[in-house]
Amino acid sequence: MLEIDFLGYRLRNPLMLTEGPLSGTESLLLKASESEAGLIFTKGIRLEEQKSPVPFLNIHKGSLINADWSCIGIENWIGIIEKLEMETPLVVSIAKNYVDSETAVSMAERLVIAGAKIISFVDYDPLQLVETVGLARRRIKVPLMVKLTPFLPDLEKHLKALVNAGIDGIAAMDSIGPILLIDTNTGAPVLGSKDGSGYISGKNILPVTLKYIYEISRFVDIPVVGVGGVTDTDSALQMIMAGATGVGMVTSPMIRGLKQFTKISDGLKQYLIETETGNINKIRGLTHSVNKARAISTDYKAVIREEKCNNCGACRKVCYSNAISADSDWHTVNRVICIGCGLCSGVCSENAIYFK
Ligand SMILES: Cc1cc2nc3c(=O)[nH]c(=O)nc-3n(C[C@H](O)[C@H](O)[C@H](O)COP(=O)(O)O)c2cc1C
Repeated sequence: MLEIDFLGYRLRNPLMLTEGPLSGTESLLLKASESEAGLIFTKGIRLEEQKSPVPFLNIHKGSLINADWSCIGIENWIGIIEKLEMETPLVVSIAKNYVDSETAVSMAERLVIAGAKIISFVDYDPLQLVETVGLARRRIKVPLMVKLTPFLPDLEKHLKALVNAGIDGIAAMDSIGPILLIDTNTGAPVLGSKDGSGYISGKNILPVTLKYIYEISRFVDIPVVGVGGVTDTDSALQMIMAGATGVGMVTSPMIRGLKQFTKISDGLKQYLIETETGNINKIRGLTHSVNKARAISTDYKAVIREEKCNNCGACRKVCYSNAISADSDWHTVNRVICIGCGLCSGVCSENAIYFK
């Protein structure tokens, strides 16, 4: 029901723990492998051991901000991978952005000799990724992935170059930054990095990731891992409908624990049963086909389903056109005044409003 094929592996579900603190050491990897995650990415591997200036994490309105570039260093990672016994497939992720392409490929070669079965390169510069993958493809036999940063311009051009260079899969996206948060008691940044800047991840970045995955999956037909802002079953479903094969998470399991993988995979199963869809692969990219058939209109008006309306009045409060009025048991919309903006449905806790 939830199984997917991914770079030669049959995964029990599409949920993945991507690069972050929860996969930064051997003991954390082993703990993560006891979760329901279908696949795990190591934290980004750097040449040298590196610590992050503290504090490097903070929570802001449900999202995480971080200045975490810590790593235990490649020598330690090689030691771990040589003896790692883990059933969950592992992507070994290389922080390419700190080294040149030749060095990144040499790191990958050493990690493959140690036992890495899938390699991913992460860089902010797509041209660097193309160069690295081009070099790696000639020297490394295992599947190669890249992880893209948000807001890549000339997306189609870069994706084609990456596919031509030989990538087998793509993950997108990294956390968004640089960002800044200030402690108003002191005026000092809340994060410990030199100028206080960091990166934001978690639920508030979901719409950005969804659009990115939607666009990426228009241009490539290799597996895409959508990561950024997934926190529950609904956001995981949205990611798959946008075109993702795999659904990555870091912030949600950090804040709510690794049980998130069980909760969301149970939720996905329930969705497939209730909608009689049967198989997760059937809804991948659904939004692309829906959009092709979609009629757009400037004339739709809000309709309140009386059987669902609890008469709370939230819709009336936000209606700046004054098109909504209270009846004794429910609210109604004046269809002459309504401009169909959509704000009312966004505040309706009962999902009672649709547009016609
Ligand atoms: C504390 C922290 C550390 C991270 N470290 C890495 C890293 O080493 N390499 C990397 O490619 N991405 C790293 N990421 C980015 C995540 O893999 C992921 O792309 C991003 O957080 C968006 O997913 P989320 O909203 O589920 O957290 C890190 C994210 C966080 C929050």
